[in-house]
Amino acid sequence: MTSEQSRYWSSRTAFVMAAVGSAVGLGNLWRFPYIAYNNGGGAFLIPWLVALFTAGIPLMRLEFALGTRFRAGAPKAFQSLNPKYAWVGWGTLLVGLVIVFYYAVVMAWSVLFMGHSITVSWRENAAGFFNGRILGLTKSIGDLGGIQWATLGALVFVWAIIFLIIFKGPKVVGKVVAWTVPLPALLIVVFIIRGVTLPGALSGLKFYLKPDFSKLLDIGVWRAAYGQIFFSLSLAFGIMIAYAKYQPPERTEVNRNAWITSVTNCSISFIAGFAVFTVIGYLATSTGQAIEGMKIGGPGLTFVTYPTAIQLMPVAPLFGVLFFIMLLTLGIDSAFSLVEAVICGIQDYVKTSKEKLTFWICLLGLVGGIIFCTGAGLHWLDLVDHFANETLLVFFGLMECIFAGWLFGFRKVRGFANEYSKVKIGLWWDVCIAVLTPAALIIVLGDTLWNSIRNPYGDYPAWALWLGGWGLMILVVIISVLLGFLVREKKSVE
Ligand code: PHE
Repeated sequence: MTSEQSRYWSSRTAFVMAAVGSAVGLGNLWRFPYIAYNNGGGAFLIPWLVALFTAGIPLMRLEFALGTRFRAGAPKAFQSLNPKYAWVGWGTLLVGLVIVFYYAVVMAWSVLFMGHSITVSWRENAAGFFNGRILGLTKSIGDLGGIQWATLGALVFVWAIIFLIIFKGPKVVGKVVAWTVPLPALLIVVFIIRGVTLPGALSGLKFYLKPDFSKLLDIGVWRAAYGQIFFSLSLAFGIMIAYAKYQPPERTEVNRNAWITSVTNCSISFIAGFAVFTVIGYLATSTGQAIEGMKIGGPGLTFVTYPTAIQLMPVAPLFGVLFFIMLLTLGIDSAFSLVEAVICGIQDYVKTSKEKLTFWICLLGLVGGIIFCTGAGLHWLDLVDHFANETLLVFFGLMECIFAGWLFGFRKVRGFANEYSKVKIGLWWDVCIAVLTPAALIIVLGDTLWNSIRNPYGDYPAWALWLGGWGLMILVVIISVLLGFLVREKKSVE
């Protein structure tokens, strides 16, 4: 086997597992159920499925097709379409970097909670435990309040694991995802069985699935649906392009793989909702609160609501440890897929050892995460997460449609996808990539920008909104354009 061949996934299944591993992450367990709840409960499933079929699956096919065709990471794949397009690829990688800075910190919290599960240390008050003991949360974003050393220590641990896994390349990644994909899926089933047998479970499920169709007229609901599909399917991060690079083109099935990856991911989100809401129903019943009045969502759901519920369960330490192992295994393959994508993008241009590059990127990830390990960490995380997902990610998704779909030509890209597939896609894909997806993304992005100007996000001061929000976003776009312009290679891939 040549060294290039040895970097291929060992089989088509291994590739699909890795793609599913990247897609299925923390976003499925807490983000989906809470977004669904906030946006009409059962009625949210409609825009969400529309987003899956008009944007998720078509873009997944586009990314798989580019990676397979050009056997390159995102920047070089876009450069192969046209040298002027490389910046789009760099942009997707930079958004990913920004996101992994804090994503790894959320994983670090899971590590800490796993340790504390043994003694159920949050017994007195989970909210106080998370905000006080874990975060050392300060009142405002400007008051950093010093570094939380335990979190930083856990972050070093998380990055060390990511480093070790990537160090060996796709073969090892294949083996890791063979565990980290089925294990959390199995644990979710365990939690559903546990959940439905708890008193009050049914009220939680009613709450999760109760449709409120009036919400469908609200553009915010559609915005949430598209945002969730992008984040959850790991689209516009350059990840799926990089992963597809390592497929032997003659043995792959671009169209079918994209379909399987997307549908598996979304099914897991939907099912995870049952695990989460049965427990919320139980929590409401056992504490005598109305579900409507409980504050759920975001980090609160995972690190406050769930630990509270765990402590009320029999054999609490066991369920606690299992729950946080589930979170970690969910997150780890998403996190290293991002780092893989960055490494793959750089290696197309710079001849350097993968080991060195992995080390430096993991170190960068660790350093980039320090701000989120301070007392103001949660405030910064909330701010950066909002801007990175709602503006940058959608922006680069739109750029992928415009540059690959409109400017290079959707028919040609469809040709790439079909070349590597027995199941051919037709006109519907063109309609999605050329019309439906960009139209939806333009509306979503326009609505987000309009909203952010009218009501600045959160109650953060303007300087923080500029630093962690607008400023960071503009910086990412500028750096991508610069990289696209400066990092050139005369020879094209094919
Ligand atoms: N798809 C991941 C999730 O649902 C989010 C993610 C995307 C994380 C890309 C890292 C990289 O959690």
